[in-house]
This record gives sequence, structure tokens and C-alpha cells, in this order.
Amino acid sequence: LPGDLFGSERRNSPGLAFGDGAALRRLTNTVAGAAGPAEAAPIIDGAPRTGRARPVVTPIDASVIGSVIEADSATASLAMEAATRGFPGWMRTCAAERAGCLERAAEAFRREKGRLLHLLQVEAGKTLDDALAEWREAIDFLRYYAAQGRHLFAEPQSLPGPAGEVNSLRLVGRGVFVAVSPWNFPLAIFTGQVAAALMAGNAVVAKPAPQTPLVADLAVRLLHGAGIPSGALHLVPGGPEIGAALIGHPALSGVVFTGSTATAQRINRALAARDGAILPLIAETGGINAMIVDATALPEQVADDVVTSAFRSAGQRCSALRLLVVQEDVADRMIAAVAGAARELAIGDPRDLATDLGLVIDAEAKKRLDAHIAAMKATARTHFAGVAPGGLYVAPHIFEIGAVADLRQEMFGPILHVVRYPANSLTRVIEEIRAGGYGLTLGIHSRIEEAAERIAEALPHGNVYVNRNMIGAVVGSQPFGGTGLSGTGPKAGGPHYLFRFTTERTLTVNT
Ligand code: SER
Repeated sequence: LPGDLFGSERRNSPGLAFGDGAALRRLTNTVAGAAGPAEAAPIIDGAPRTGRARPVVTPIDASVIGSVIEADSATASLAMEAATRGFPGWMRTCAAERAGCLERAAEAFRREKGRLLHLLQVEAGKTLDDALAEWREAIDFLRYYAAQGRHLFAEPQSLPGPAGEVNSLRLVGRGVFVAVSPWNFPLAIFTGQVAAALMAGNAVVAKPAPQTPLVADLAVRLLHGAGIPSGALHLVPGGPEIGAALIGHPALSGVVFTGSTATAQRINRALAARDGAILPLIAETGGINAMIVDATALPEQVADDVVTSAFRSAGQRCSALRLLVVQEDVADRMIAAVAGAARELAIGDPRDLATDLGLVIDAEAKKRLDAHIAAMKATARTHFAGVAPGGLYVAPHIFEIGAVADLRQEMFGPILHVVRYPANSLTRVIEEIRAGGYGLTLGIHSRIEEAAERIAEALPHGNVYVNRNMIGAVVGSQPFGGTGLSGTGPKAGGPHYLFRFTTERTLTVNT
């Protein structure tokens, strides 16, 4: 496979220079012009289901921004059955046509920029910068998997054999894939999962996070409008209770999941408990992501990269930095630089362009984070405690803890933990990070190339970032996904991802 699957034209979606006032005004006008209530409902065979709607409120000020009709278990089963009927036709659709649908969907996402960005802001509480990055990533996923699939699924591969025997190998969709996506990237991850499963020739039943059904509903409508057959893609908004109906359904052929480690483990157990076919799980979860900073690192660069990695998106990224591991000799200087940079962050309404840090997703998240902050204040050394406005805001905090092992749980918010290590105990620190069992992102700041290489080699993390921040993996450049407690390993936005959604069939003909 060629390394650059976008082909000769390098085509990740372009960004926006926020310093360009006119372009920024155009964008904010587009988003403001697209505001308005939205609806979501189960979509089965292209038809939205009716039923009792509940209001969807924005985390920003709890005002109503739309409504959702959630699926129950019976509706989830109907979706699985509809996908079973839709699968054979879609599997037989040629790769070029499937890719064409995804490319047209990318165009539709472009046209609906205002509406998609608006929903990302009000439904998920994203800053404009984050919403724009996410919208670009969703388009990149569509176009990347289309470009790759066009190539991968075009023709069966001929294989050698003795005279009189013709061998070929072909990649085909597995059947009905259930795609379960998270609220922190309700457009990009939702779209990435769905696009990959569809491109590989599967029918899909997609379950968005309960917090973010509106943007998912719009994405599905755009995908259908772009030519994805209504039988090949179905939407079931709802809570965890419909998960059991989806995972337990006899028609299931595979699951792609992004979310918490505990939920991935639950899905894994449920799949194992089924009778019948043995099914694959593609899981991407979280991590207690660490950054190791040695005495040769540049404090200004470290401060900038730590603040971006730990606090951007209010720390609500699975890639976000949770644990800064810094060499003792330079620890005071580094911590002071990081705290100084954190002090400059503006926390507030994510729609305000001056805001660096918006809010957390819901009251439950805030409660969990506040409880952790209170526990840390009682047991750890506080290096920085920001001040948050009322509502679902959590201010950035920096706490020093005694050892790597003292942080046992991923805290999904703007809370950074720091550990110091003496120069002669780097090996022990690496061992402690490994013993935690997570393996998603790892940051290294060192000006000694061999030292960085040694650390990267010694740990199993899926995404290692040296001398830069550790978030915002780019489709086609930083294939994303982790190992161990952080996931089953497949890399979204990478050249091998689509294989995970297929089976391979060998055909041997005696001529
Ligand atoms: N892909 C996202 C990132 O790299 C996931 O959190 O930040």
C-alpha cells in the first residue's frame, strides 16, 4: 500500500488562520446563520421513527437546543434486522461506487459547515477552534477511507499456484457492524467509524452517545443524501440500555467502539458470552497518558505543549495528557513554567472567540472531576488551581503526586498530575507507566535523540509524540489508537484500519 493514501494531491482539509479577521467573520456568520433547533430520532431504512421526544439541552447554559426520540431495545432490534436485509446489496456494490458515496458525503459535510459547527458548539460545548478541527477531521476520514477503499477493494488479488490452479484473495464486508461512538468527538469519531465500516462493505447500525444525538442525526442524513443506501446505514440514538440489544442480536457481525475502558470490557464480555459466531471488537478507549520530560528539555516548549495537551478541549480528549513525569533537577522550573502558562488560559463560554477552555459535557462529569479535585487538594501538593465560572465549568488544576501509581484512574477533564523522578530512576518510572496497563498516547521531551528513542521503545503506546504536544492526531499522518487497557490496537486514519472491518476469502479454481 502506498504510504500517502490521499494520493498525489495531499488533501487534508484546510484550516483557518484565526488571525485573518475577514475569514473569521465569514465563519462566525456562517455558524450564526445556521443556528436553530434540531431533531434526532432513530432512522431505520431511511425513515425517522416517531415516539416520545425528550429535550436536548446545551451544556453551555442548559437551554433547549432540540429534541431526541430515543430508541428502545425493540427499535434497536428492528435496526439490526433492517441492516441484515441491507447488507447483501451494499456488499455487492462495487468499491468505486461505495467510495463515491463517501466522497459525496464529504462534499455535503462541507456544504453544511455552518450547521455542523453550530451543533458541535451547542451540543458538545466545543470552542470554534475545536469544532472546526473536528469538522475537518470528519471530512478527512470520509475522503481517506474512500481513497484507500477504492484501491483496496477494487479487484481480488491474484495469488500464485501450480499449473492448472487459479488462486485469488478478496476482501469482503463481514455483515452488520454496530458502531458505538463517544460525545467528545460526536462528529469525527462517529463519521470515522461509520465510513470505515461502510467502505469495507458492511451495513452499519450506529449508536451515538446519549449526550450528542443531534449532530449524529444530521451526519446520517447527509450520508444518506450522498447515496449511502437507506438499508446500509441505520441510526439508534439512546442510552447504554440499547447496547445490550445491539450486542446480543444474532445478526451482529462486529463492533467498533470508542469510549471508556470499562464499557469496552463490558462489550468484550458480552461478545464472549454469545453463542454462535466469534466476533471482532475494534475498541479505542482512554489512557492515563504520560509525558516524560528530562533535564535537557526546553521549558518554554514544554510549557506550551503541556498546556495544550492537558487543557485544550477542557482535557476531554482520550489523547489528553494526565501525568507529567519530570526529571527532579528541572522540576521546579518546569512546573513553574507550566503553571504560568495555565494561568493565562481564558475559561468561559465556548462560543466566545477569546475562550481557550470551555466547559465539561454534563453534570455527572463535573461532579466526578470536582470530587477528584477535592481529594487531590487534601492529599497532593497544589501547584495551580484555576477559577471557574458557575455552571459546568471546571478550571484547570495542577497537582503533584508522589508516584506514577498514585493516579489509578483516567480523569477526563482539565486536571494535570505531576511526578518528579531522579535521573537515575528513569527505568523504574518507565516500568511504573507500563505497569498501569494503558497504552494510548505518550509524550517525550528530550533533546537527546537516543534517550527519546529508548523511552519510546520501552513502552507499548500506540501514539508517541516527541518534543511536541500529544493531541490532535491527523488523519493519514498520525494513525490513532492504543494497546492494552487503551484499546485493541487498530489505528483510525491509518492505512490498515479498513482491513479490520473485513473478512478475507480465498478462491481456488482447478482449471
Ligand atoms: N484523535 C484525537 C486526538 O488525537 C482523540 O482524542 O486528540
